[in-house]
Amino acid sequence: MSKRLKVDLPGREYEIVLQRGLLAQAGGECRAVLPRARRLFVVTDSNVGPLYYNRLKASLEAAGFQVFVQVVPAGESSKNASQLARLWEDMMNAKLTRTDAVVALGGGVVGDLAGFAAATVLRGVDFVQIPTTLLAQVDSSVGGKVAIDLEAGKNLAGAFWQPKLVLMDPDTLDTLPLPVFMAGMAEVIKYGCIADRDFFAFLEARPSREQIMGEIEHVLYTCCDLKRWTVVADERDMAGPRMLLNFGHTLGHAYELAGHYTQWSHGEAVAAGMCAAAQLGVQEMLTPPEVPGRISDICASFGLPTAISCTMEEYAAAVGLDKKCMGEDISLILLEDLGKAVIYGMSQEDALEAIQQFVEHSGRMADGC
Ligand code: NAD
Ligand code: GLY
Repeated sequence: MSKRLKVDLPGREYEIVLQRGLLAQAGGECRAVLPRARRLFVVTDSNVGPLYYNRLKASLEAAGFQVFVQVVPAGESSKNASQLARLWEDMMNAKLTRTDAVVALGGGVVGDLAGFAAATVLRGVDFVQIPTTLLAQVDSSVGGKVAIDLEAGKNLAGAFWQPKLVLMDPDTLDTLPLPVFMAGMAEVIKYGCIADRDFFAFLEARPSREQIMGEIEHVLYTCCDLKRWTVVADERDMAGPRMLLNFGHTLGHAYELAGHYTQWSHGEAVAAGMCAAAQLGVQEMLTPPEVPGRISDICASFGLPTAISCTMEEYAAAVGLDKKCMGEDISLILLEDLGKAVIYGMSQEDALEAIQQFVEHSGRMADGC
């Protein structure tokens, strides 16, 4: 039985469908939301394509679609302007029309790249997300943020372009390399931290990949339910609720920067960022003192780092680059309690002073003082 969640954006509503083995039924699901489409252009990557494309293609063809594919090299380096331009050209060579659609089969990289291509080709065509990583299933495939990276930074050119449908087959997670699965767990843990204390406790009681996979439908459903709520409340990430998803990300960006975007995955950086943000919250007398320990423990149980060292220059660069930054002020996401995140507005100067205090305090803790 499939589980379904509706993302209720007026005029752009869509469903998230969640079911084991769903890939083999993708054709029927796509046909139901794309009644006029003749051609589908699938974008996948060099790891995911060999594993899942044939199964998807067979199902799409059985539903009467003519299917085209482009396989991009796996990894973040494909999320760039030249891959995007190649997709546009190939879509035109495939004679895609405005009633046809793009399908993203892969992780967040493929979803962001294919989504941006869909948002821009022919001034916008329909788009279906078929996420195959844990991160993409709980986060990036829902909400319509699509983007490529620029030399100046990650995700700096993009659009809000909601998919027509999101199809999640939890079975695809079985082939994920362990570090990719664990990085996705950082985002799963984040939902518990920001919005659902009971879900946090549920995760604490299941501290391994096997235990999480045993309850994966519940995990995906809970995360997508929380994500869709923030998207419906704040589609453009301006009014507030969607900003709560940034918990751990501002400091996480500093750690990604410190590791030159190669040493730490996004999920690892977010894990350390959540631990640091929890401690910052205690320092600001907002977060109860027992919270940082619980977050560190759960991150550690999934093999995620709980602290990453970083210079004040890197913190300052990340705070300045943060897209949640409005003018000279910054909105740090802190916890009033486990399961209750708040937007904590500060000047950049005050934020950096607070981070400096946190760095000095954690340095003293590490020295055993
Ligand atoms: P990814 O897409 O690079 O996938 C990670 C690795 O797993 C890749 O090597 C990929 O080939 C492989 N892979 C994917 N599915 C697989 C499967 N089922 N079996 C085996 N291997 C598989 O990375 P990601 O972590 O999924 O996504 C990261 C990207 O998502 C970043 O670019 C980030 O900026 C973006 N992102 C976007 C949003 C958003 O709202 N749009 C949110 C968070 C992150
Ligand atoms: N991943 C953050 C967002 O979708 O807003």
